[in-house]
Amino acid sequence: MAEIELLKHESRVFSPSTAWAQSANIAGMDAYRALCTRAQDDYTGFWAKLARENVSWQQSFSHVLDESNAPFYRWFEDGTLNASYNCLDRHIENGHGERVAIIFEADDGNVRKVTYRQLHQTVCKLANGLKSVGVKKGDRVIIYMPMGIQGVAAMQACARIGAIHSVVFGGFSAKSLHERIVDTGAVAIITADEQIRGGKTLPLKAIVDEALALPGCDSVQQVIVHKRTGNAISFNPKQDLWMEELITPQSKTCEPEWVSAEHPLFILYTSGSTGKPKGVQHACGGYLLWAMLTMQWTFDIQPAKDVFYCTADIGWITGHTYVAYGPLAMGATQIIFEGVPTYPDAGRFWDIIQKHQVSIFYTAPTAIRALIKASAINDQVHPKQYDLSSLRLLGSVGEPINPEAWMWYYQQVGQQRCPIVDTFWQTETGGHVIAPMPGATSLVPGSCTLPLPGIMTAIVDESGHPVPAGQGGLLVIKRPWPSMIRTIWGDPERFKKSYFPAELGGNVYLAGDGAICDKDSGYYTITGRIDDVLNVSGHRMGTMEIESALVAHPLVAEAAVVGKPDDVTGEAICAFVVLKRNHPTGQEATQIAVELRNWVSKEIGPIAKPKEIRFGDNLPKTRSGKIMRRLLRILSRGEQITQDISTLENPAILEQLKQVA
Ligand code: WT7
Repeated sequence: MAEIELLKHESRVFSPSTAWAQSANIAGMDAYRALCTRAQDDYTGFWAKLARENVSWQQSFSHVLDESNAPFYRWFEDGTLNASYNCLDRHIENGHGERVAIIFEADDGNVRKVTYRQLHQTVCKLANGLKSVGVKKGDRVIIYMPMGIQGVAAMQACARIGAIHSVVFGGFSAKSLHERIVDTGAVAIITADEQIRGGKTLPLKAIVDEALALPGCDSVQQVIVHKRTGNAISFNPKQDLWMEELITPQSKTCEPEWVSAEHPLFILYTSGSTGKPKGVQHACGGYLLWAMLTMQWTFDIQPAKDVFYCTADIGWITGHTYVAYGPLAMGATQIIFEGVPTYPDAGRFWDIIQKHQVSIFYTAPTAIRALIKASAINDQVHPKQYDLSSLRLLGSVGEPINPEAWMWYYQQVGQQRCPIVDTFWQTETGGHVIAPMPGATSLVPGSCTLPLPGIMTAIVDESGHPVPAGQGGLLVIKRPWPSMIRTIWGDPERFKKSYFPAELGGNVYLAGDGAICDKDSGYYTITGRIDDVLNVSGHRMGTMEIESALVAHPLVAEAAVVGKPDDVTGEAICAFVVLKRNHPTGQEATQIAVELRNWVSKEIGPIAKPKEIRFGDNLPKTRSGKIMRRLLRILSRGEQITQDISTLENPAILEQLKQVA
């Protein structure tokens, strides 16, 4: 194959087996290139055809792409559809109602399966229930739920009635939840009494109560509570309703609300470079189309045969596109797991794959690295102890996968039989944008390979000029695509500034990542964020958000947060803190560090807890008062500062900041 020739300078290239190259949805490089050429030659025609073939429209669209108000692009706008109809009803109409939609495995190992017909019924009843308490088309509904069938049903029920859901990850604090309730102006919250993870129960409803006690939540009319554990919780009969009681009397059918393709499907908050998370808004039609296409192209989904398992929580975009929408829109069978990969032991994923005959497995590099470590310590949890012969494809997402982890995943989990799709994308892109197609693309560990057909990527410098291949630059997407972010909820100016900056001409999408394109193969390697955004265990965290949380503590005067490379989590949060008094040392420093860590956990959520805290009487600053983060990064790594620090206002504090509290 030509690719192998082109990539010969790379030491390890894995080209598709003959079986893959012959039977995949996209079989061979020629098939990939044909799609790319079609997109190149007739961009709107390319998308229109795919949209007609894949999405079930109530009323077909006549116009494909409206660029008149760029960068607020509109796709298939006069077409009407319903995402929930596409995910449920049409499979029943096609005779697949008895196919299992979800295999739910609880934290304790209990299994429950629901068919498409059963899921449809649950969704219809919940949709009717939402309507009965006054939730209407366009209303925002916050979903704060554990991983489970009800969480997905809640998302689908909102989609069914045209309400806009905003899922908040169950690990976020009351304050983070509150921020999202206020920003969306939500009319209802769907939650559970508690969640169970790793054998422990954790509150959800109590956190909702705490959030609602903060000012500004007057929009919320109803809190719908799914009974997960049945333990006692506080219940306010004026506002709270048990989900099970709400849905029991409801009708089993609910006519879908037919909405414009541009009607918002959901808002999902993600971190940016300011302290305030951004409400990324996606639209029904384009998003659903891309969820379906990437299920076919990247995951090669065979709905009647595959058991698909994406380990992401519904609180993240991966859990939206590849749990709540993509697999269902394809009519596939998928696993939803309530718990954590290390409980009851670190063999849990392998056990789930073996037990349910998973054929496609999609997880994050941080999980793989953690499981590599665990199986080096305890051989009993090593993948070789399990029968993983059902696997045919593996996927990776969330951060660059280091070649060592790639090789282990390939050899130990995939037994050298399964291609690995390293999928690059973002909350804002709605689905994969740069990723291999397993029947076409040769794989190179550490590279997410080539843009998917229709995605016009490029690498440019800071003024928007293309950089030569082999040279690093900013990753951009030059043309709009159907599943792109539509706006930032309530802040269109920030949307324009963040993603279509004037410096780049105002008409290309800036991803926020650095990348390099190989000059022979055209393969992309992502080099990491170019803004003040960290990637901790595949979760996006803004340094400013953590800094704001720290300075909100009464003892803290100033804080700066940087990412430090970490073997397991990719990056770890390292905070440099100046107190309103002299810097503490010894035991006192340790105590205050513990307090600050818990504080951040309370302010944002446990995922934002700094791993390391260092105290000083000041931060390294230039004479104009700018914090020199570059120096902080060097200090966090424990490296020697070799560069000139003569421009530094206060070199003496560098010594203090070497101490970890
Ligand atoms: C950021 C987006 C995409 C769903 C999960 C995260 C990083 C994501 C990869 C990858 C290198 C990756 C980027 C991106 N990222 N996937 N395969 N290789 N980096 O979504 O929270 O919106 O974060 O994750 O830095 O910008 P997100």
